[in-house]
Formats: sequence, C-alpha cells, structure tokens
Amino acid sequence: MENLKELIKAADLEFSQCKSLSDLDHAKAKYLGKSGPLTDAMRGLSSLPSEEKPKVGALINEIKQSIEKLLSDRRKTIQDDELFSQLQNETIDVTLPGKKQSQGSLHPITLSMNRIQNLFHSIGFDLATGPEIEDDFHNFTALNIPEAHPARAMHDTFYIDKTHVLRTHTSPVQVRYMKDNKPPLRIISPGRVYRVDSDATHSPMFHQVEGLWVDKQVSFANLKSVVEDFLQNFFEDESILVRFRPSFFPFTEPSAEIDMSWNDGWLEIGGCGMIHPSVLSQVNIDPEEYQGFAFGLGVERLTMIKYGVNDLRPFFTNDVRFLKKFEN
Ligand code: PHE
Repeated sequence: MENLKELIKAADLEFSQCKSLSDLDHAKAKYLGKSGPLTDAMRGLSSLPSEEKPKVGALINEIKQSIEKLLSDRRKTIQDDELFSQLQNETIDVTLPGKKQSQGSLHPITLSMNRIQNLFHSIGFDLATGPEIEDDFHNFTALNIPEAHPARAMHDTFYIDKTHVLRTHTSPVQVRYMKDNKPPLRIISPGRVYRVDSDATHSPMFHQVEGLWVDKQVSFANLKSVVEDFLQNFFEDESILVRFRPSFFPFTEPSAEIDMSWNDGWLEIGGCGMIHPSVLSQVNIDPEEYQGFAFGLGVERLTMIKYGVNDLRPFFTNDVRFLKKFEN
C-alpha cells in the first residue's frame, strides 16, 4: 500500500521533468501501462482476502485517478508552452519599414532631347543622325573649313587618327543629309559632340541639336521665327525673345549667335546662319536655285535654363539624388 502511494510522488516528479508530449507518453506508459505497477496491483487483488479487496481496489483507483490528473495537467502545461514559443517565433514586427519598389526615370538630357524632337516633328522636321567618329572631310572640309584654315582652331578637337575626329559639332550631319537627299529638306539632328574642354559650364562630351531647312525660298527671317517659336514652346513662355548677334561660321553667311531673353538679360544658346553657297555646291545643290538656313543649339544649356541648374557636371556624374529631381 505504501509503495503504491509513493507512486504518486514518483509520477509527479517524472512528469514534471518531461519537456515534450512524446516524453510524457513514455512516462505515462511506465505508470499507467499494461505492465505498469497499478495494473500489477489490480491483478494482485484476487490473491487478497475478500474483506480487503474493496478497500485496496478503491485505493488503487484513487491513485490511478490522481496520476491521470497529474498527467493531464502536465500535458496542458507542455501544450501551452509549445504554443507560446511558437507564437513568439512567428511574431511579425508590423512597425518595420516595408521593402520599397524604386523605379528609374529618364535623364534630364533625354527629357530635353525628346521634347526638342517632338516639337520640331510637329512642324514637319524629320530626324537625321550621323556618326560620332567623323572624318575630317565631313566635320571640317565640306563645311568650308579647309585644312590650315584658322577656323579649325575654334574647335578643340579630339583626334582619333590623322583623318578621323570625334565630331566637334552636329553640322557634319547637314553635309551627309544634303548629299543623300534632294531639296526641299527639313531636318533636325540631335546628338553627342566632343571638344577638349572641361569646367563648370563645359564638358568634353555634350549634346547639340542641328536644324536645317533648304528650299527655294527660305529666309533669315524664317530662321529667326523658327528658333523663336521653338524656344517659346520649349520653355512654355510666349514672352521669350530671340536676338541674333553677328558672328562668323565658315559654313554660314551671314552668321549669328543665338541669344534668348532670360531674367532681364540675354543668354547665348547656339549659333546659326544661312548656309554658305560653297557648302551647297559641295553637295550638288545649286545655290542659285536653293537657299537654306542652319542652326545648332546646346542641349545642356537649354536643360540647365529649363530646370534652373547652374552647373553642367551633375548631368554626367549620375548621382541618383540629383537625377531624382527630374522624375517624370
Ligand atoms: N556648328 C556650330 C557650332 O557648333 C553651330 C552652328 C550650327 C552654327 C549651324 C551655324 C549653323 O559652334
């Protein structure tokens, strides 16, 4: 009898040491299983005198119930612990910042180039392109700048070899286009150009847009109105005025620098002129029958004015913080 009572204590201790439900199942088998001490005790009842049987039987049942209670209490505790640690492991911190989807955007120079192309396209100018590695003939000679002509010094040229240069302007595209097409001609030619020059307002690579219009009756006045109309549309400001300042380019005559009115002053944004008769003759267009104008605009300069940027270099260093300002 005493041994049986001790069983409760032993079971309590053993159950409390079980850390998992399967440990607990093993311990249960040990105390309540078919070959456990309580089953043995029940079997032993038959050998007892009949007056003791009910007392001992009741005691065995009591002990069995106590052990079952201990078992179910422990089972509940283990289940609660497991649930608690599961909840703790699966906790989501809803205050953590989310993963951002960031999206790129077009470069400000690209935005300007697209805008320029669309505006000229809307008034009937086709798009023409040419190589960035240009030969001496198209970059200079055909534009009325023969070898040893002092005008070559106006361009600080990157030479690839004796006869090839990185084009110093987009004007060679005029020559290529006029050679391959018959007038009337109306094109713009946007693209990269290169000069040995580098400071806050000059970059060794920059962008120009060349414009060209050749027909039987094209005047200097037409040139001025096309440029002025373009600038007013580009900047969405009809009060912008254009001033032509007398200048010299070997391939145009007369020639002018293009200034636009801005903040009570004037800003130079490009060059222009009437195509020189010798340039027309070079490309087999009869200067007695046809005239034309040409202009070249600096795209970085237009972009700087449009977005109020006063240093050219950030356009080429590609700092995302700078580029983000132009998100479109
Ligand atoms: N090509 C000249 C330059 O880069 C600009 C220009 C273009 C001038 C067309 C006249 C006509 O300086």
